[in-house]
Amino acid sequence: MVKDAYGRETTNIRISVTQKCNLNCLYCHREGDGNKNRSDKEISVSEIKGIMRAASKLGIKKVKITGGEPLLRKDIIEIVREISLTEGIKDISLTTNGFFLNKFAHLLKSNGLNRINISCDSLSSSILQKNIKNIEEGIKSAAYAGLNPLKINMVVLKGINDSEINNMIKISKKYNAILQLIELIPTNKIFFARFFFSLEGIENELERKANKIFTRDVNFRKQYFVDNAVVEVVRAHLNRNFCMNCRKIRITSNGFIKPCLMRNDNLVKINFASDEEIMKSLLEGINMREIYY
Ligand code: 5AD
Repeated sequence: MVKDAYGRETTNIRISVTQKCNLNCLYCHREGDGNKNRSDKEISVSEIKGIMRAASKLGIKKVKITGGEPLLRKDIIEIVREISLTEGIKDISLTTNGFFLNKFAHLLKSNGLNRINISCDSLSSSILQKNIKNIEEGIKSAAYAGLNPLKINMVVLKGINDSEINNMIKISKKYNAILQLIELIPTNKIFFARFFFSLEGIENELERKANKIFTRDVNFRKQYFVDNAVVEVVRAHLNRNFCMNCRKIRITSNGFIKPCLMRNDNLVKINFASDEEIMKSLLEGINMREIYY
C-alpha cells in the first residue's frame, strides 16, 4: 500500500472516462475538470488497462468510473470488463445520471460492475432535467440486476430541493438504495453564495432520529439508519476530516493524474510507454497529494 506525504493510504482510483454529458446541471463540478468542451481525445481502453495494472500493483483495489456521463462511452461495457479482469481489483463502481441505465444495468453487472451511484437531486422534473420516472426505471433495473449497494446522490441546493429531502428518503427506501445527501462544492462564488445549503442541521436531526449509526471504515463517513432507510451525509467543503480521510487518486478523461478534486495546478501527465512508466507517473501523482482544507 502506498502512503502519501501525509501518511494517507491510497486505496481508491477514480477515473473519468469522458467529459461528455447529455445533461448540463448548473452546479456540476465536472469532477474538478473545468473544461467541458475540451477536444482532447479520451483515454483508450488499453490505456485504462495499463493504469489499472499499475494501480493494482500499488495496492489500489477499488475503482470508481465517472464522467461526464460514463454511459455515453460506446465502449463502456468493455471498459468495465477489462477493469474487472485486472488482477487485484476487487470493487468497481460507476457514477451515472441514470438516463441510460435501464438499457445498461444488466450488461454492466454481468461484465463485472459491483455497485452504482445514480445522481438524482429531485422528484420534480421542472428542477431536474430528467423526470424521476425516467430515472426510476434506471434505479429499478440497477436493483434488479443486483448492483449493490445502490446509491442515490442528491446535491442539496438552498431554495431548490432542500424541501425534498424527506421525499427522497422515501424513494430511496422503496428501492433499497442508500441516499447520499451531498453539500454543494463551490464551482462559482455567486452560485455558491446563493445556493449552498448546510447539511449540519439535517445531520444533527439524523443523529437524533437514527436507530443505528454505522461508521464506514473506508472514509469514516457515517450511515444513519432511520425507519429502514439508510442515509449518508457528504460534507466536503472546508472539511478537514474529509481531506484527512481521502484515499483516492483521480484520472482525468484525457490521461492526467489529478491528485485533488479541488486543484488543477498539479496534474501529472501519464507516461504510457510501459507499465513501469505508468506506475512511476502514478507514484508521482500520489506523492503530490496534499490536504486541501
Ligand atoms: N458539489 C457537490 N457534488 C457535486 N457533484 C457534481 N457536482 C457537484 C458539486 N458542485 C456530484 C453529484 C454527482 C457526482 C458525480 O458528483 O452528486 O452525482
